[in-house]
Amino acid sequence: MEIIRIPRVMQETSRGHLLHGRTVGLVPTMGALHEGHLSLVRMAREENAVAVVSIYINPVQFGPSEDLSKYPRDLEGDMEKLKREDVDVLFLPDDALMYPRGFSTYVDVRGLSERLCGAYRPGHFRGVATVVTKLLNIVSPIRTYFGQKDFQQTVIIRRLVKDLDMGTEIVVCPSLREENGLAMSSRNSYLTRKERNAASVIYRSLLQGSEAVKSGIIEVEVLKKLMMEQLTSEQVISEVQYCSVYSTETLDEIERIEGEALLALAVRIGNTRLIDNMLVTPGR
Ligand code: PAJ
Repeated sequence: MEIIRIPRVMQETSRGHLLHGRTVGLVPTMGALHEGHLSLVRMAREENAVAVVSIYINPVQFGPSEDLSKYPRDLEGDMEKLKREDVDVLFLPDDALMYPRGFSTYVDVRGLSERLCGAYRPGHFRGVATVVTKLLNIVSPIRTYFGQKDFQQTVIIRRLVKDLDMGTEIVVCPSLREENGLAMSSRNSYLTRKERNAASVIYRSLLQGSEAVKSGIIEVEVLKKLMMEQLTSEQVISEVQYCSVYSTETLDEIERIEGEALLALAVRIGNTRLIDNMLVTPGR
């Protein structure tokens, strides 16, 4: 596995592969890799001649009161895992090269970035859109892999790639879960064992919503109530930031489910913020 730290070198390496007709697939991550990340890596490995994984904890997407300094880091463990997955290139840029002095260009995907998590994390998606634009310009991948776990992120990136003619195919992979249903996340490492067990209520709440849709309930007020009842039945949930049903395209909250829709929620357990979602279609 080649390790590249300099964006210009990454750019030249990737262009070299493309010039030789080799497809390049990119999996952008912030490290502390778990099976969820690795499922994207496996997909990229399978579908492309060259698999590139980036690990970069992007400071621009963290708010001033967020967990940048204590975000989990495990570079050695990550490298071992990526070698085992037969990754070709690990791109590990540092801050001084990604955001040099004088950096002043940001990418704002308006509207979509203000909804759901955006309302609670101002500036977060601006940071994500900016760094993903940079990574796509550096690596020029034919395909780029994201997880459905961060559904809003995938909608924003699809919009961005379309609006700015970036010409990479966005592949969205299913959410991987722990045995108890908790979606895998680097942030789960902040949870105590007790909290981790109790956090399975998030999945049960989404299941409750999706079962209700299957049974014919399409009124969002009713679904919301069912999901909220599950969530608030668990004491460790200290705050429910949002929990409702949204359009998969505009991310607007809807009133009735007509086609495919998104059940999505964000909660806090102590100081740890967790998100999850599930797609539903009535009659399925
Ligand atoms: P990070 O949180 O490290 O996630 C990297 C990718 O892994 C994202 O596309 C995310 O949706 C996916 N992922 C996380 N948990 C998953 C799970 N349980 N199952 C499947 N996929 C999962 O998302 C980011 O980093 C950053 O915002 C980034 C896109 C790298 C930009 O900085």
